[in-house]
Amino acid sequence: MTFTQEDARAELASAPGSEWWRTAVIYQIYPRSFADASGDGLGDLPGVTAHLDDLRELGVDAIWLSPFQTSPQKDAGYDVADYRDVDPIFGTLADFDAMLAGAHERGIRVIVDLVPNHSSDQHVWFQQALKAAPGSPERARHIFREGKGENGELPPNNWESVFGGGMWKRVTEADGTPGQWYLHIFDETQPDFDWTNEEVRAEFRDVLRFWLDRGVDGFRVDVAHGLIKAEGLPDYTPDPEGGSMGGDADAVPYWGQPGVHEVWREWHEVLAEYDGDRALCAEAWLPTVAETALWVRPDEMHQAFNFHYLETKWDAAALRAVIEESLAEYGAVGAPSTWVLSNHDVVRHASRLALTAENPQGAGIGPKSPGQPDPVKGLRRARAATALMLALPGSSYLYQGEELGLPEVIDLPDDARQDPTWFRTNGERYGRDGCRVPLPWTADAPAYGFNDTGASWLPQPTEWAGLAHDVQVDDPASTLSMYRALLAERRARGLGAGALEWVDGYGDDVVAARNGSVLVIANLGAASVDLPAGEVLVASGPLDGDRLPTDTTVWIAAA
Ligand code: GLC
Repeated sequence: MTFTQEDARAELASAPGSEWWRTAVIYQIYPRSFADASGDGLGDLPGVTAHLDDLRELGVDAIWLSPFQTSPQKDAGYDVADYRDVDPIFGTLADFDAMLAGAHERGIRVIVDLVPNHSSDQHVWFQQALKAAPGSPERARHIFREGKGENGELPPNNWESVFGGGMWKRVTEADGTPGQWYLHIFDETQPDFDWTNEEVRAEFRDVLRFWLDRGVDGFRVDVAHGLIKAEGLPDYTPDPEGGSMGGDADAVPYWGQPGVHEVWREWHEVLAEYDGDRALCAEAWLPTVAETALWVRPDEMHQAFNFHYLETKWDAAALRAVIEESLAEYGAVGAPSTWVLSNHDVVRHASRLALTAENPQGAGIGPKSPGQPDPVKGLRRARAATALMLALPGSSYLYQGEELGLPEVIDLPDDARQDPTWFRTNGERYGRDGCRVPLPWTADAPAYGFNDTGASWLPQPTEWAGLAHDVQVDDPASTLSMYRALLAERRARGLGAGALEWVDGYGDDVVAARNGSVLVIANLGAASVDLPAGEVLVASGPLDGDRLPTDTTVWIAAA
């Protein structure tokens, strides 16, 4: 059956109250690891274009691309030097336009990453700031302060960078003397902008328009919880138990300050000038679901990542609680809940769900980490977790490679690691490289079909030949086939726009619910449970006759 322009238009349809982003399944592309058309070992935009048919066959509604803008790549592109251009390693603006057009022709929307909290230190504004004097308008676009101590030799406060080490770096003034300090929540090559400065705000409204004019459907907003800092930049000592993105503690002076809402309202208005229900999705690590829901009030952002769901342990009661809370809190502000299990910052869920020791977010797993996951159990749980997630109403995010069941790569050689976290903590935290290894497309090809040359910016494990896309695509038992089946049923049955009703009677270790014509049952307990009568639409693993084994989820056609 051919896919026509009419089909594409139907899939891109959107209307008030049923806007596309309320129900979309959005697939995250991490461009440097998706597909590499140029063969230099780093993925690129023509690589994305070459695989759009695969994404259509997978059945996703939209793609989100991690940053591909001009960047020295000190934090894999989350350090942007020019917000209005494509970095040559990823291609050109023309390649971007071709990719966008190709996606739209296939009925796939495109969201781009926007990194407003900080720039690269190579950004022209920061370079101008370094040359300008303290107190100048050039310095006022980033956050420069005098140091403490007799000669300003101590940082302005005690804040610690998310990537380890201090959050301030001292500059040398034009006359060669040690000078002011600038703030960087992340790496020292990522100076924070001062969002109380109208010049910064105007610049970003213009950057939004630059990409909206090109036709993007929305933005994933990086570190959206960081833009505004508490007045006076008061000292703060983080909770040692807090996550590495620092989102766990209340009252952190650099996260989730109320002033951010004003920025989202401004941005909401910019997007509203455009047709087609363009959307904003917040990357915001905040203490509670209720607080996160405030970010998606009707005049603010449209979606926020549900990291509370991502961080929930593989435990039936905990999952029921977070699902219920999410539907209630987001529902109360008229927004969809989103759901997510993996992204480029966390341990892939095919490994994370089988970890047996605490693993703070951002720490990653390496050869010496405690609680190493059992890969068989991990994949089984990951498949069950995905099958549960995709049955939920709202919008879901997938991360490239999870549809192949990829695990975290644990045994990357130390000298291959590139995450600034690894360097800034002197190897104490492995960081996030293990979830960023280039995808295997073809088992018998160089770099498993990531490119034609065999080059790969992170080494791919030999076992990945068995997980390659071409090996899985015609195997009905593969993880890829399961994702395709789940997405097809989800779409055909309108589950994204559905409503959830809990179903009792399967015991404490089971999550069972009905969404429209689907009964979803996830068994997280050790013992298998009896399945009700009814056609099995999809199962995350083999069933045991009419019993549902441990760590398995099934979709049954509801009577
Ligand atoms: C976000 C990104 C992460 C990046 C950080 C700094 O959390 O997802 O990858 O390192 O922001 O930009």
